[in-house]
Amino acid sequence: MTNNTIHIFQATEEHLNTLVDLGRTTFVQTYAKDNSVDNMIEYLDAHFKLNQLKSELRNPDSFFYLAAKDNEYVGFLKLNTGGAQTEETEAAAFEVERIYVLKKFQGLRIGTLFMEKAIEVAKAHQAPFIWLGVWEENPDAIAFYEKCGYKPFGTHTFTIGDDDQTDIMMKLEL
Ligand SMILES: CC(C)(COP(=O)(O)OP(=O)(O)OC[C@H]1O[C@@H](n2cnc3c(N)ncnc32)[C@H](O)[C@@H]1OP(=O)(O)O)[C@@H](O)C(=O)NCCC(=O)NCCS
Repeated sequence: MTNNTIHIFQATEEHLNTLVDLGRTTFVQTYAKDNSVDNMIEYLDAHFKLNQLKSELRNPDSFFYLAAKDNEYVGFLKLNTGGAQTEETEAAAFEVERIYVLKKFQGLRIGTLFMEKAIEVAKAHQAPFIWLGVWEENPDAIAFYEKCGYKPFGTHTFTIGDDDQTDIMMKLEL
């Protein structure tokens, strides 16, 4: 899928270092201002390490997509279905677990392209809906999801280090 110079494509193991870098950078850019250094380090070390990403990428129920702009990697999307979903909803549903665009490239409709990709993949698997969890204190992302048509349907707990935070769960019926 291309949009001007933006190209969205499925990531493979050759992109593992890129996924680690993009995950760490975007996570810090988004959450460092509202979380303790210790909690950030603990989360980054648990979730954005090469071996962790490798096992996630090898999970047949998870799908990673990268965005490239002018040959630079600028963000990634992680989708889960079946047992890879982080909450029990419906086995056939799809979760947007991560949708990360580097700060410098936000507002360029890359997130919209990722959402279009999520819909395409979920529909190809006959998913009834797509869902996601978003931190209640991330108003930018909530505004983006609302714009994409997602509606709140519950909450769940998301733990960063010693901090249990509330995520709003939102879904898009397909
Ligand atoms: C949230 C995110 C994925 C959105 O991607 P993006 O490429 O910046 O968004 P887009 O350019 O596609 O924006 C699409 C629409 O959402 C709206 N939108 C995006 N950010 C917004 C904000 N902060 N406030 C209000 N509306 C917003 C845009 O105005 C745009 O609307 P338009 O179609 O009328 O122009 C991206 O900003 C991001 O990666 N943020 C940091 C990581 C993060 O928070 N991820 C979500 C974790 S749950």
